[in-house]
Amino acid sequence: MMSLLMLFVGLGITFIVAHFLMPGIYYIMAVRWLRSSNEVGHKVGLGIDPPFVSVIVPTYNEAGVIIQKLNNIYSQDYPKDRLEVLIVDSGSTDGTVELVHEWIKGHEDVNVRVIEEGIRMGKAHALNTALKYARGDIIVVTDADSLWLPDSLRNAIAWLMSNGVGAVSCSKIPRTNRDIETEYRSYYGLLRLAESRRFSSAIFHGELAAFKRELLEKIGGFPKDVGADDSHTAGFVSMMGYRAIIPEDVKCIEYVPSRGYWMWRVRRAQHLIQHFSRFLKYMLIDNRNSPREYRQIMLYEAYLHLINPWLFIIGLALLVVSALHGAVIPIALLLIGLALLSVRFFRTWVITQVILVVAAIRNLWNKELVWRKIEK
Ligand code: GDD
Ligand code: MN
Repeated sequence: MMSLLMLFVGLGITFIVAHFLMPGIYYIMAVRWLRSSNEVGHKVGLGIDPPFVSVIVPTYNEAGVIIQKLNNIYSQDYPKDRLEVLIVDSGSTDGTVELVHEWIKGHEDVNVRVIEEGIRMGKAHALNTALKYARGDIIVVTDADSLWLPDSLRNAIAWLMSNGVGAVSCSKIPRTNRDIETEYRSYYGLLRLAESRRFSSAIFHGELAAFKRELLEKIGGFPKDVGADDSHTAGFVSMMGYRAIIPEDVKCIEYVPSRGYWMWRVRRAQHLIQHFSRFLKYMLIDNRNSPREYRQIMLYEAYLHLINPWLFIIGLALLVVSALHGAVIPIALLLIGLALLSVRFFRTWVITQVILVVAAIRNLWNKELVWRKIEK
């Protein structure tokens, strides 16, 4: 009995230490990637003949935000005659489409079109429909409930002008007063920038995801069987040897739901888990070709999203069980852990691990490929 207890304590501590070690190591690596390279030299710029851009906005019941979204695209610092906007709607019942038609009447100097799918088959399906109508050399996808800074589009396209870059996404500025969301963003935001310096970001954001059209065509459009369509597409671009980056000067604002926040976080985590599981398979089992730096990034990130959270939960469970059996060290450790919860970063971290574990379990029966709309 005694030795079993010791084993539990030992394993518990080992798991917890391992859990914090890996992200620590990855973070240090990321900071070094950020310091060791200067990205600005790679930005080619728009030149005198900016490329023709198709901005695709998928909508499902976005009446509350669509006008603001159109105004935001309209006020971008990008030549309007080099721009078209495609609203692809899948059976909204709240008057989204009518609002767009109304808006178009007052803004004849920019080409905005509406594509109606009738029934709802998910965001990726809608994007593929829009792709058939899009005429741009560059395809930019953006969620209806997000906003860009005036230079976001311009900067994204400027990055895409260089030959080695195949896709560009944005750094998120969350519009919320939730500490958890802001804290989560500042840590993960740094990783995205660092990975982009190294080769490609492991994660892309639907608030602004820009792709070279020819690459999208080679991939065969957006994947319909993985929730994180944006990250997954960026992954394919990277596997082809092109960089998929989040540069410092491309920013976007996203609305964070106040009600339904947890469900929203779990669903997004589910989608990321689907994305990383697939890539783990591509890289380890199918052994598909991929640039060395990208492989490194994806293996770390897959580990951090798929395996690392379980080390924490299992370690914690072992400590709790041994504490309940009267072991002193686990009791002390758990009390320290409880005290640490008052530190914001630690609290955010722990919550994120729990979300990842819940998401992994939920993926077993519901992949949320077509999801319930959550009001922002
Ligand atoms: N046409 C169409 N059809 N549009 C859809 C559908 C659909 O079935 N489902 C969702 N959309 C649109 C929404 O109207 C919105 O503009 C965008 O897709 C993103 O959906 P949200 O409901 O706002 O989801 P989110 O804020 O959690 O989305 C984030 O995570 C997703 C992956 O979990 C974004 O980053 C998405 O881009 C990403 O796919
Ligand atoms: Mn959204």
